[in-house]
Amino acid sequence: MNNRIVSGMRPTGKLHLGHFHGVLSNWLELQKAYECFFFAADWHSLTTEYADTSGIGDSIREMVLDWLAFGIDHRKSVIFCQSKVPQHAELNLILSMITPVSWLERNPTYKEMQENLTTKDLSTFGFLGYPVLMAADIIVYKAARVPVGHDQLPHLEITREIARRFNYLYGNVFPEPEALLTETPKVLGLDGRKMSKSYGNAIFLSEGEEETRKKVMSMVTDVQRPRRSDPGEPDRCVAYSLNRMYLGAEDRAEIEESCRNAQIGCVECKRKQAEALVSFLAPLRAKRAELAAQEGLVDDVLLEGSRRATESAAATMEEVRRAIKM
Ligand code: TRP
Ligand code: SF4
Repeated sequence: MNNRIVSGMRPTGKLHLGHFHGVLSNWLELQKAYECFFFAADWHSLTTEYADTSGIGDSIREMVLDWLAFGIDHRKSVIFCQSKVPQHAELNLILSMITPVSWLERNPTYKEMQENLTTKDLSTFGFLGYPVLMAADIIVYKAARVPVGHDQLPHLEITREIARRFNYLYGNVFPEPEALLTETPKVLGLDGRKMSKSYGNAIFLSEGEEETRKKVMSMVTDVQRPRRSDPGEPDRCVAYSLNRMYLGAEDRAEIEESCRNAQIGCVECKRKQAEALVSFLAPLRAKRAELAAQEGLVDDVLLEGSRRATESAAATMEEVRRAIKM
């Protein structure tokens, strides 16, 4: 087994705290130990955004800026854009020839998304084939491992099945990539639901400090503590659930005690929480601003990354063509 990891993110624009504590902090760790390929899955975005593609370019730029600000390092990892490596598409086509439609139709995310995203017509060939393109993304680099959350596990299972089927039909070319299942904390948004851009309850790295403070102050607290004089329970408090991650151990102990004894009011408490969050984000925001000011930086990073990715993908495709005798 090699030491290679591949992971992609659909460019949906600016990243929020949920991304940082989920995917990105995980990438940051992996980057230390593995040879990593991280990419913007812009063709995958087309599966839902095909009718209006005007935002995808900006989304890639904002997303990559957030990656870099967070410490994903283009000198260590290969950072690139899917659509700049046409070998993904070539392999996608070949894999689509050997993938039974039934595997795709029984994919749980396929059914789920079609039922939930009723505002978009997802009855397309490409949407059904989402996992085939994802398989191509992964095995074109012969990646040994793929970091995934629970939601992507079915896709990775299909990837393994497709790789196995290719090897069975044409000879052993691809390793079957293993899932590196990552436990991620559930990051709550302003309203207590899971933080998500589409719920409008997210805190972004790219927003200003004042905006972040305002958002924290608007967060729901313990609903069973209607009056300042009522004792509260931090475990029931949405604001605290999010912001506890940014407080030091001492502050946490103090807040929890004074909340339970009704010694602190929620406004004052949330002010403390907001400051902790703002201080945590400050160096990342400074870094992001610095990177954003460097004209052409993201383009250069992606260009160089796409060149390195293409080199590796092209070598695999040589083997694939030989294996299928074309
Ligand atoms: N489907 C993944 C998601 O929505 C994105 C993705 C595309 C991906 N290709 C990939 C992730 C390859 C890992 C490996 O999150
Ligand atoms: Fe939440 Fe703080 Fe209010 Fe307690 S005092 S309910 S922890 S905001």
